[in-house]
Amino acid sequence: MIELGSDHAGFELKEIIKQHLEDRGLDFQDHGCFGTDAADYPVFAAKTARAVAMGDGGTLGILCCGTGVGISIAANKVRGIRAACCSDEFTAEMARKHNDANILCMGARVISAETALKLVDVFLDTEASEDERHKNRVRMLSDIENEKLIV
Ligand code: RB5
Repeated sequence: MIELGSDHAGFELKEIIKQHLEDRGLDFQDHGCFGTDAADYPVFAAKTARAVAMGDGGTLGILCCGTGVGISIAANKVRGIRAACCSDEFTAEMARKHNDANILCMGARVISAETALKLVDVFLDTEASEDERHKNRVRMLSDIENEKLIV
């Protein structure tokens, strides 16, 4: 399952992504918003990020706002979320490989829809690295959430 969300600025890009996921035969849930009237990105980030956090280990999310920044900051407030704001394919790939990112965030006012769909594909098609170095760093991210990272 792929959890989707956006604010008004990301709404049209989210619609394009939905069509793309349908074309790929992938299941998704749309947590809104559902139009171009002004909408607060923290609301849709929270709904989508909570769905990802409550899903099975393989659940991924995609969030869109104007820049991708606000919605990624908001999503990262939810425990268990590793949201990566990406504008290029390399970063989207490495966000999955090295950071085990579980939400891809993009800015509809930053990148074209064509580029966004490339990022979606690389994000969904890349697995997290099994390398213990990277797995350990991802565990350390949880340790920060749990006040257990002693530095
Ligand atoms: C909305 O105008 C805009 O601020 C929002 O979509 C996003 O870019 C915030 O980070």
